[in-house]
Amino acid sequence: MTRMPDDFLFGAATSAGQIEGAATEGGRGDSIWDVFARRPGRIAGGATPATACDHFRRYRDDVRLMARLGIGAYRFSIAWPRVIPRGYGAVNRTGLDFYDSLTDTLLEHAITPLATLYHWDLPQGLQERGGWPVRDTARYFADFAEQVVRRLGDRVPLWATLNEPHVAAHLGHEHGVHAPGLRGLGTALQAAHHLLLAHGLAVEVLRDLAPRARVGISVNVAPVHAAGDGDADQAAAARADGYFNRWYLDPLLRGAYPEDLTDAYRELDLLPEVHEYDLAAIAVPVDFVGVNYYFRYLVAADGGDGTGLRQRELGFRVLDAGGAGSRERTAMNWEVYPEGLTEAVLRVTRDYAPAAIYLTENGAAYDDDPGADGDFDDRARQAYLHAHLEAAGAALEAGAPLRGYFVWSLLDNFEWQHGYRKRFGLVHVDFRTGARTPRRSALWYRDAIAAGGVP
Ligand code: FCB
Repeated sequence: MTRMPDDFLFGAATSAGQIEGAATEGGRGDSIWDVFARRPGRIAGGATPATACDHFRRYRDDVRLMARLGIGAYRFSIAWPRVIPRGYGAVNRTGLDFYDSLTDTLLEHAITPLATLYHWDLPQGLQERGGWPVRDTARYFADFAEQVVRRLGDRVPLWATLNEPHVAAHLGHEHGVHAPGLRGLGTALQAAHHLLLAHGLAVEVLRDLAPRARVGISVNVAPVHAAGDGDADQAAAARADGYFNRWYLDPLLRGAYPEDLTDAYRELDLLPEVHEYDLAAIAVPVDFVGVNYYFRYLVAADGGDGTGLRQRELGFRVLDAGGAGSRERTAMNWEVYPEGLTEAVLRVTRDYAPAAIYLTENGAAYDDDPGADGDFDDRARQAYLHAHLEAAGAALEAGAPLRGYFVWSLLDNFEWQHGYRKRFGLVHVDFRTGARTPRRSALWYRDAIAAGGVP
């Protein structure tokens, strides 16, 4: 039995752009994802986030459902274009009213809110002024944070400024598979710097306006393993670790970009423009680090032929063959590797000594068995969650200051470029009718929460 401490938060997570829908209602403006999804061929099945789970209208039912499952904490995000439709200028009270009411509904059901200020839905109005590669966007983000915190800061105890700046920067600005669909490592690094700066400025706003709140940021942390013992693969793995992990963790938690990667980017003439006090602003102390964990990277030196995602400038490949060929994979084709969760949490603990860590995302997509209509018997997801909660317990036992775990996701939702085809929910959503049906894993999670851990 893995028992968590009594004050451990068992949560579930979502994000605004993936569940709310109501894209044109209540004065909301377009986000970069609304615009990206209208471009042919960008999203599987031509899907858009316009309706999604219709959570904007159904939030009371969704909160009641969480309460029935015994979920103790809920991580949601605030849609910037709902609050400030163009990203700058007029504030939309109706948007703030929605989050105000969502917060109160959560508190009425004794569910602790964890609000994320930015989960990738930049207002299109700001994209038209250059988006994250432009420095002003960080300032506008601080203004947005101020509006939100003035309204909710008295009731929301936990805040994450950003979700996964690495993904927002690189998938959106280097690989072009996420909004806004740009392609250039230099552009991505400049976007990343402004995202980090935006984080620092928002922490200051939170300290001023909500002095009792606990504040952090969610980063995706993935162990990077070398595919082979040779020097070339080892060196490639070190560069990949810099690219995926340290380029974000180091400035946030140590106040400096990592030297090895700084040298590499300088040589490629790709270093972002950094102003004198930026790193001090970025490294403003936080109360917790949010770790999102899904997989590890198995990395080889890039040379000759090969399969797997290639990072050309830094000369490494992420092998899509995974670790041991026999390992199970999710519907995302992600290797199931629970040991990596323990490793990621212990690495953050050892290298950065944060006051607290929350696992702000972990979960899996699986296809529903078409035969199991009306009875969503997702044993694979249940086993996945079981193994990963055990891995979280192992991190705790080894001394990590782990305070909570949030399953991604409460509901099946708009999974970015995959549209509605990848289902991560504890709760199944019928996107035609909006009907919610808790899967077997949801009931299992309810029992684990009631027991304070996993048997
Ligand atoms: C994370 C994102 C989240 C969801 C999961 C599957 O990277 O933060 O929105 O897409 O992956």
